[in-house]
This record gives sequence, structure tokens and C-alpha cells, in this order.
Amino acid sequence: MTRVAIDGSKCQGHARCVTRAPELFDVDDEGISFVLAEEVPPEHADAARQAAEACPERAISLQE
Ligand code: F3S
Repeated sequence: MTRVAIDGSKCQGHARCVTRAPELFDVDDEGISFVLAEEVPPEHADAARQAAEACPERAISLQE
């Protein structure tokens, strides 16, 4: 099972993660991203990887 986490101290609110994987990420009222579920279902693993690669702040980490 893939696990995903966001380092809130790095997130600058680019929201590319939400664009790539809206089923996994959302942003709060201040534009900082958070994960909707730490454990990524297998069918969303590719989207999680794409989101991590798309984040210019490298705020998203995956554990596979
Ligand atoms: Fe933040 Fe990166 Fe997403 S900066 S909003 S985690 S694309």
C-alpha cells in the first residue's frame, strides 16, 4: 500500500497536486494542501506519483 504525506512547511499552495489527484488532495482556506487519505488505494497510486512529481516545492512524499 502506498502512503502519501505533505510537508505543510514546504507547501506554497500551487495546487498542482489537487489538479493531478483531486481524490487524494485538497487545499484548506489558506491554500495549503492536505491529504484526504494517507493510504493511497492502488488505483490512485499513479495519480499520487504524478502529484508528487508536479509539486514544485517537493512537499509531497510517497512511501511505497
Ligand atoms: Fe502545495 Fe505542492 Fe500541492 S506546493 S498545494 S503540495 S502542488
